[in-house]
Amino acid sequence: MTRRFLFVLGSARPDGNTELLARRAAEQLPQNVEQQWIDLAAHPLPDFEDLRHDSDHTRPTEGDVATLLDATLAATDIVIASPLYWYSVSDRTKRYLDHWSGWLRTPGLDFKATLEGRTLWGVTALAHEEPEVAAPLVGTLNNSAAYMGMRFGGVLLGNGSKPGDVLKDTEALARAKTFFAQEAPLARFPYEAG
Ligand SMILES: Cc1cc2nc3c(=O)[nH]c(=O)nc-3n(C[C@H](O)[C@H](O)[C@H](O)COP(=O)(O)O)c2cc1C
Repeated sequence: MTRRFLFVLGSARPDGNTELLARRAAEQLPQNVEQQWIDLAAHPLPDFEDLRHDSDHTRPTEGDVATLLDATLAATDIVIASPLYWYSVSDRTKRYLDHWSGWLRTPGLDFKATLEGRTLWGVTALAHEEPEVAAPLVGTLNNSAAYMGMRFGGVLLGNGSKPGDVLKDTEALARAKTFFAQEAPLARFPYEAG
């Protein structure tokens, strides 16, 4: 299967550090790898409504929810490119993940079976100098991948406050060069780690 990367951008501003860093990493992908970029600001998802236990819950066929769903199902690799907001993912990124909970229960979608074995990656920019403070974001993505039976490639972190700052983080730019070439093992919950 040809690899197809979906980049889901979750910043609340255009051309931010997270996107800059994600684009640096994506530049290294081979030519035959397809890339799709979706900015959640341009494709705003509605508030997630918990219809998981309603039997008349159907597949969305139009609008931004359908666009995101179709792109997610078509991707072999999903890259959550979210700035660090309050130590975790941004609100719009979290909303996208909340919609996964609805898609998991939508009859006929086979959302979990489709994503199983595929790979989740993260890219984030943060203002704090010490990257450990991003542990809640890393845990959210790792555990989500484990729950979904996905592989997890880890999170590419870069430092910056105002747009463009991350381009001065030479260590992050160096990590970006090989980020997507890394092994992405099957994700495990922390209590399963051997
Ligand atoms: C709502 C909000 C919450 C933030 N929370 C954190 C935080 O918890 N830790 C941190 O280091 N930086 C925090 N920041 C700073 C951003 O992570 C930083 O400016 C980053 O470069 C933004 O990424 P972007 O340029 O891709 O939008 C926050 C910024 C905003 C707007």
